[in-house]
Amino acid sequence: MKGIKIKGTGRCVPEKTVTNADLAAIVDTSDAWITSRTGIHRRRHCRGETHTSLCAGAARAALKKAGVPPEEIGACIVATVTADTLVPSAACTLQRELGLPQDIPCFDLNAACTGFLFALHTMECLLNASPRKFGLVVGADTLSRITNWEDRGTCILFGDGAAAAVVECREGWSSIGAELGCHGDDRLLRVPGVETGHRSLISMEGTRVFKFAVEAVPWCIDRVLARTGRTVEDVDFFVFHQANARIIDLAARKYRIPQSKYYKNIGEYGNTSAASIPLVLSELADLGRVGPGSLVLTVGFGGGLTWGGAMLEFA
Ligand code: ACO
Repeated sequence: MKGIKIKGTGRCVPEKTVTNADLAAIVDTSDAWITSRTGIHRRRHCRGETHTSLCAGAARAALKKAGVPPEEIGACIVATVTADTLVPSAACTLQRELGLPQDIPCFDLNAACTGFLFALHTMECLLNASPRKFGLVVGADTLSRITNWEDRGTCILFGDGAAAAVVECREGWSSIGAELGCHGDDRLLRVPGVETGHRSLISMEGTRVFKFAVEAVPWCIDRVLARTGRTVEDVDFFVFHQANARIIDLAARKYRIPQSKYYKNIGEYGNTSAASIPLVLSELADLGRVGPGSLVLTVGFGGGLTWGGAMLEFA
């Protein structure tokens, strides 16, 4: 089996910043509570932007960084639960916007906050069966559109954004060794779909999801290390889904990961769902903290419930 590596990353977030103080004006909360319980200071919310415009911005930036023209892309996956339309999918819309080839699969993938990792694994499988060697993977969500602004337990958490990676698949490269899991549950976390009789807003039992996450993260790390035959010390950087700074810090402590080897941007963006992991990857790449040869262990978890990890390499 051929493996994939990250060739270029890009991101696009809305202009509008919403601070904790802004939210304290509409629900009974405070900057002190949000900061101490989540690590979030501010997040971005769409005002003029759309899911489509964020995806296109992130994808264009990633293609540019990778130096890959749109016509060389062999498949496009958008991981999301909040596309502008169910049909056409965000990925089909992106095919049109970017001028991707028409004889390739373009589709959306729903694994909530773990979506980007599910999409990378799917892309690795697709490119193994494709004559083309490049793939475009986007993680994008605009949860502000379905947030319950009367629920202080959830409305403080989410931000909008999109980030993308162009990957290359080659003979002789190792697989990303993705370890993925699911457990169907609509009580702990629910994002509405096309249905009647329900309020069309997010609901979550935060404390129970927190406990699930604290168990899921080590499971993912252990499974990916075992599968790839690596140790914690081999890993250049750890990238965690940005749902809560406390979840990230607990994992870092458990595995004795030095501060120089993990990163938090949750303070700036909140939880951007499927965009969260590629948003970190893209910032790290721009900061020069990861680059060609870097080995990055990524871990995600979220609605579904879903969870997963993968060992990414940069080309
Ligand atoms: N401001 C002030 N007080 C609040 C707020 C708020 N925004 N939200 C809740 N509280 C109160 C509660 O009412 C409760 O008060 P009580 O003790 O009087 O009943 C108290 O604070 C504690 O509430 P908890 O919900 O137990 O707080 P917790 O420490 O668990 O933090 C949080 C809540 C931040 C949501 C946390 O549980 C969390 O991060 N969970 C994980 C979220 C996650 O990882 N989601 C997965 C991805 S999302 C996706 O897939 C789309």
